[in-house]
Amino acid sequence: LNTSEYFSLTSDSWAGFIADAQNRLPVSPRLLVLALCNIPLVAIALNVLWQLIAPRDPSLPPVVFHWLPFIGSAPSYGNDPLKFFFDCREKYGDVFTFVLFGRRVTVALGPKGNNFVLGGKSVALSAEDAYTHLTTPVFGKDVVYDVPNDVFMEQKKFVKVGLSVENFRAYVGMIDEEVQQFLRRDAAFQVFQKNSTEEWSSFDVLKVLSEITILTASRTLQGKEVRDSLDKHFADLYSDLDGGFTPINFLFPNLPLESYRKRDVAHKKMSQFYQDILRKRKAGASEYEHDMMAALMNQTYRNGRPLADHEIAHIMIALLMAGQHTSSATGSWTLLHLAEKPEIAEALYREQVEHFGSGDGHFRNMEYDDIKKLPVLDSVIRETLRVHPPIHSIMRKVRDEVIVPPTLSAPSQDQSFVVPKGHFVLACPAVSQVDPRIWKNADNWDPTRWSDPEGAAAKAFTEYTDDNGEKIDYGFGLVSKGTDSPYQPFGAGRHRCIGEQFAYLQLGTIIASLVRNLELRLPGPFPAHNYHVSTGIGSVWMHC
Ligand code: HEM
Repeated sequence: LNTSEYFSLTSDSWAGFIADAQNRLPVSPRLLVLALCNIPLVAIALNVLWQLIAPRDPSLPPVVFHWLPFIGSAPSYGNDPLKFFFDCREKYGDVFTFVLFGRRVTVALGPKGNNFVLGGKSVALSAEDAYTHLTTPVFGKDVVYDVPNDVFMEQKKFVKVGLSVENFRAYVGMIDEEVQQFLRRDAAFQVFQKNSTEEWSSFDVLKVLSEITILTASRTLQGKEVRDSLDKHFADLYSDLDGGFTPINFLFPNLPLESYRKRDVAHKKMSQFYQDILRKRKAGASEYEHDMMAALMNQTYRNGRPLADHEIAHIMIALLMAGQHTSSATGSWTLLHLAEKPEIAEALYREQVEHFGSGDGHFRNMEYDDIKKLPVLDSVIRETLRVHPPIHSIMRKVRDEVIVPPTLSAPSQDQSFVVPKGHFVLACPAVSQVDPRIWKNADNWDPTRWSDPEGAAAKAFTEYTDDNGEKIDYGFGLVSKGTDSPYQPFGAGRHRCIGEQFAYLQLGTIIASLVRNLELRLPGPFPAHNYHVSTGIGSVWMHC
């Protein structure tokens, strides 16, 4: 029996199961089976009893009640983390601990909770200790969470060199061209290809956006050789690597399963693929443009050592993985909302006509500086990231016990909690981004909220970008701290996303390009989040 089968047995089937086992075995093994079958029940009873009667240590955050020892609240958290967190907030307040497969995870909600987790010092709250077992088998050695934090901060600085405005200027045209080519080529867009205005066709939104995202990211950041190699073989390698980047891999770093084996094989091949490109570039055997690999090839650490080929290869894999699901899921949700609210799609279209229309039904090419000045497009993306941030849980492992400030743990009692060493802390900006205490009609996707200068959105955005305030250098250049804001789709503090500008540029160009060419409709009800898949969204078909 696997775990879920085991726990789904009703008491009747338990009785049948035990009776059956007893009949088939001689006396003493029968007793053994009986005892073994009762161990879980006894463990559950003890676990419940312990939570009900054991005196609670007032210095620790309250622990979320759970029936199952070890597994803890994993089913509720895994099914719908936001509902779980909102429910827990009602019972326990903004700070509470839940058990997740033997780990103790302390959640700190709200803007103050975000600040506590994301603004914490890396010596006490470590991202590498929380994530390395998940990321290192996928990205590879000597980068990101496989190195001390200060080395990773230097690597983030190197990547920022490849994310320059000069490069961005070249990227807009490339992305637009890739989208146009996709529409002209892909079988799902045959009606568009026939230039028919009478018929409708359908496409799977996540599938299309995933393909467009990888095509555009490889044409720009990843470089010419990667774009030219985007065939079935590359797609399979990517898919095997991605299969090693799931919640199960976070919980169990190594299991004797096929997906883990495929992950390891795919990593070796992918690493070799990038290192071969580097070798050819260095030997002058291939032409290349100003992409990320070119930028990384010129970087040296503070101690004068240049980045090694395997480090560049592994950073490239990390960037590929970091930008793929995040951008394809955000693009998919955006299109779904535009299909649901055609009046917003129409406003987007009109914005395109106003800025780029040539008067004869055609559009002039988009430029980077134009994209930055399109308020409707900007609000549509910001609002989608508010309601559907692709990363809902951001964790750190506690290296040295930390004190949760009283203002956060129990504002009325002036009491602070301690989170012990070895526990995890978790921030969920996704909660503060749809908190009805902060936002009007919080669950409603309404891009117009971003144009109200007095509204919660404007305040949250100013806090996030800290345009007039605090900028900090964590080792990768000055960035807005932004840890106090209720709006943090790209995280905050020293681990803040460095792909933010690229993501806006990529998503903005893709959406503008699609809106210029397609009218979208939703054939069924608006889909709910699906937290069982890593993209947060399953297969959804829409009309165009
Ligand atoms: C970090 C979100 C696109 C590269 C993060 C974090 C979030 C995030 C929430 C913070 C993680 C943490 O604190 O543990 C997003 C979203 C994206 C996006 C919503 C798109 C819509 C990208 C892209 C790239 C990228 C396109 C690469 C070009 C990174 C890197 C980090 C990061 C390198 C730093 C991780 C760290 O310092 O620990 N991102 N990201 N992201 N992201 Fe993104």
